Amino acid sequence: MNVASVPMRSPFRYPGGKTWFVPYIRRWLRSDRSTVREFIEPFAGGAIVGLTVAFEGLAERVTLVELDEDIAAVWQTILNGDGEWLADRIVSFQVSGESVRTAVAKGRRSLRERAFATIVRNRISRGGILAPGAGVMKLGENGKGLASRWYPETLCRRILDIVRLRDRIHFVQGNGIAAMEANAGRTDAAYFIDPPYTRAGRRLYRHSEIDHGRLFDVVDILRGDFLITYDATDHIRGLAEAHGLEVREVPMKTTHHSHKTELVIGRSLDWLGE
Ligand SMILES: C[S@@+](CC[C@H](N)C(=O)[O-])C[C@H]1O[C@@H](n2cnc3c(N)ncnc32)[C@H](O)[C@@H]1O
Repeated sequence: MNVASVPMRSPFRYPGGKTWFVPYIRRWLRSDRSTVREFIEPFAGGAIVGLTVAFEGLAERVTLVELDEDIAAVWQTILNGDGEWLADRIVSFQVSGESVRTAVAKGRRSLRERAFATIVRNRISRGGILAPGAGVMKLGENGKGLASRWYPETLCRRILDIVRLRDRIHFVQGNGIAAMEANAGRTDAAYFIDPPYTRAGRRLYRHSEIDHGRLFDVVDILRGDFLITYDATDHIRGLAEAHGLEVREVPMKTTHHSHKTELVIGRSLDWLGE
């Protein structure tokens, strides 16, 4: 699978981001005989998969669901009418130690200012981690630290590209498991399920406590097709097998270019080939 063929479309640097999985999603959706009208990503995060599906027209409509309110603020701002404002705010931002500290300072603010703060935090935090307590790079007096990671034109272009597709992308701030349950009876929906992992989840995300057993119970009642990715633990493998699902271990490349494997789980993984 060729990851180099995946355009970067998300405004986030996202821990646990699934760029490496996009070639699999393409193959899966193209192999599906029925048309997928709605592609649902119940744990959206940086949403690289959902964005790719929307940009490449692999489904008519994409729904992203995310619980974290800071991340939600970014998606709501981009998709609900303030995307141009956000792009402009990013391009006109003058980076300095003080301006960055002010931008990310806590306090009451509008949804779009919260979105901007989230984007800045995502750039200055180590590994893009937005969970409370995440380490932040040294800013210095002139904000040199951030300047080396601040690509305003790129961010602006990505945001405006998403704005152009906003009729096709719908965002819900809420619980991904509940969203799956609400759509369970639909035969024209497909789901890419990428929950916080059992091991690394707590360090990476504000919301990392998932009832993994309940997730598999809900998956049982979905009438549409789905794919789940998980860390390769015996617990998850056991749950998947107890629910009669197919499990494959696939190689993934981490950002440090070390090789690890993750689990791909689905009703049938024939389309994956050998
Ligand atoms: C592994 S990450 C998803 C990464 C995403 N696939 C990407 O490529 O950027 C899991 C996400 O689920 C979110 N999350 C945690 N609990 C949730 C819940 N109950 N409902 C919806 N989202 C949740 C976390 O905030 C995190 O963004």
